[in-house]
Amino acid sequence: MSFSTAYAPKNQHSIPQDDNDLSTHANYRDIRTTHVDLDWTIDWKSQLIHGSCTLELEVTAKDGVEHISLDESYLDISAVEVDGQDSKFTLSDRHGVCGRELRIELANMAKAGDQVKVKIQYSTTKDCTTLGWLNPVQTKSGDWPFLYSQSQAIHARSLLPCQDTPAVKATYAAKVKSTLPALMSGIRVSPPSEAKLELGKEIEYVYKQPVAIPSYLIAIASGELAYRECPKQEGKNWKTGIWTEPLMLDAAYEEFNADTPKFVAAAEKFASPYEFGVYDVLFLPNSFPYGGMENSCLTFATPTVLAGDKSAVDLVAHEISHSWFGNGIGCASWSHFWLNEGWTTYLERLLVGDREGEAARRTDLKDGLALLQSEPRFQRLVPSLQQFEDPDDAFSKVPYEKGSNFLLHLERTVGGLDIFLPYLRDYFKTFNHTSITTDQWKEHLFDYFGKQENGSEFQRKLGQVDFDEWIYGSGLDLCVDLQYDQSLAESCEALSQKWDAAREVKETSFTSHDVESFSTQQKVVFLDKLDAQPVFPASLISLLDNTYGFGKNDNAEVRLRFYQIALKSGPEYAEDAAKWVVDKGRMKFCRPIFRLLKQQTPELAQKTFMEHKDFYHPIARKMIAKDLGVDL
Ligand code: BES
Ligand code: ZN
Repeated sequence: MSFSTAYAPKNQHSIPQDDNDLSTHANYRDIRTTHVDLDWTIDWKSQLIHGSCTLELEVTAKDGVEHISLDESYLDISAVEVDGQDSKFTLSDRHGVCGRELRIELANMAKAGDQVKVKIQYSTTKDCTTLGWLNPVQTKSGDWPFLYSQSQAIHARSLLPCQDTPAVKATYAAKVKSTLPALMSGIRVSPPSEAKLELGKEIEYVYKQPVAIPSYLIAIASGELAYRECPKQEGKNWKTGIWTEPLMLDAAYEEFNADTPKFVAAAEKFASPYEFGVYDVLFLPNSFPYGGMENSCLTFATPTVLAGDKSAVDLVAHEISHSWFGNGIGCASWSHFWLNEGWTTYLERLLVGDREGEAARRTDLKDGLALLQSEPRFQRLVPSLQQFEDPDDAFSKVPYEKGSNFLLHLERTVGGLDIFLPYLRDYFKTFNHTSITTDQWKEHLFDYFGKQENGSEFQRKLGQVDFDEWIYGSGLDLCVDLQYDQSLAESCEALSQKWDAAREVKETSFTSHDVESFSTQQKVVFLDKLDAQPVFPASLISLLDNTYGFGKNDNAEVRLRFYQIALKSGPEYAEDAAKWVVDKGRMKFCRPIFRLLKQQTPELAQKTFMEHKDFYHPIARKMIAKDLGVDL
């Protein structure tokens, strides 16, 4: 591929784009994993997983390699074998969030192209950061314990020793012994898919993932789980279905069974055939720290989206879209995370637009940007992370919103969707199964359009885009003012202005009819608009609640926004918000509430957290503790 430098804007910000992953100890440039074999037993009593992990690696360094460095975090490693022979290993000191380097010396120098097999016997420990272990009382039925992993970005190393970098992709196979149904992010081989999964009896579950994926997509969940298949799509060779605790299955199925297979079919139409064979969604207990996580074949999702109003179908549209962007084309390091999330958000909005019409192909960017991380270096689309810095700390809406708007801007620049979609498909075909940098993405973009019939015209248009500003610029505004269909937002804006004006008047005329015709999404937009205004007096907050019932709204997105506005105004709703947050493990909900509680009622914030900290997943627990400034 040739890079048409003549049209590529020069890099005014002069940030060298480094594709080395600084969050890994692995010498992955010299030797890389091609396959992982897991043999695990879930020990419910001790809340540990123990067994072995066998890595098949291939030497890529042209001068050969003398050692293998892997990532591990809080594992208890008992033995290492290299090609069937016991081998010595050493562990470095811990590097903050990045864990320890597990170094294995090879008896003989391995040459380029050589295969090496490393088998590691180990157990997880109680400090494991990826596994959330729930006691029976934390589940719906209260009868059985529950377990799930959350490995993105760099927590896979606390589940298995591995090259824990998105730059490396490998296939995997797993055997898991558990007394409760065990799901993994692959295709189930045994028991067969039609078998009823028994509770309380030890069964060996066998999975395979024949598509090469990065370590962070290796995922497990086990507990009292039930399944229902979604309606088949005609002529398709893939299946979709819903997993969750039996007591939630009806609600989850009702909410997502129709849209899930339709979104996969629609994404195939926009992009290319679905490659993973199975697409299931697993609704986890409330402590799940994210909205959704795109584990291959098996999206993990928060149950807070089961609102009964289908208002969160975009979550499934989003996670499905990762099958092409993130799981298909990966990022070479966490600095290039936007290639996962920006592209995925772009496709997600095409899918939602396909379902609901163009007006819904919206963005919350304008309001969203105001909520972004304040640290300017994380406002960059491609932030540079320091050695061993926690990628979770850089997490924000930037890669999602700047990224997807950048792509929308490019779509419009080249002349619309009909021209952009063939490019999207070519991009996918070129880089599927690989992990790339932003430079590689950009090089392909110029190359692709340069090769088209009117290539020089395309390149002239692309040449006018300020790539450097988009990629390396910080600040909370986009460098281009993108216009959207505002029809759905207009009524939200009008009502929010009425509330703004109400500060000055004695008599108000608000009634519940004001929001009667609003979709949940519009209520959210309305509340975001209120939140962007100066703080409201407590009297208007209680009027807002009494008139529209937001303080009792069952939709968590609405409730969160209401509490955010209320807690900025004063402590009146602090008790309510504290009661609400104790079973909201999704960080999008619990972190802002705890932060605002800390400002209004610091004692209540601390007390609430300390009493309920065991409910939260380790990642969320650590983040809230950091936000509140408490030691765990
Ligand atoms: N891959 C992300 C979740 C993630 C990102 C986990 C970084 C850990 C580190 C997932 O696809 C995602 O973006 N989830 C969103 C939902 C979505 C509708 C934007 C979430 O959890 O809020
Ligand atoms: Zn995502």
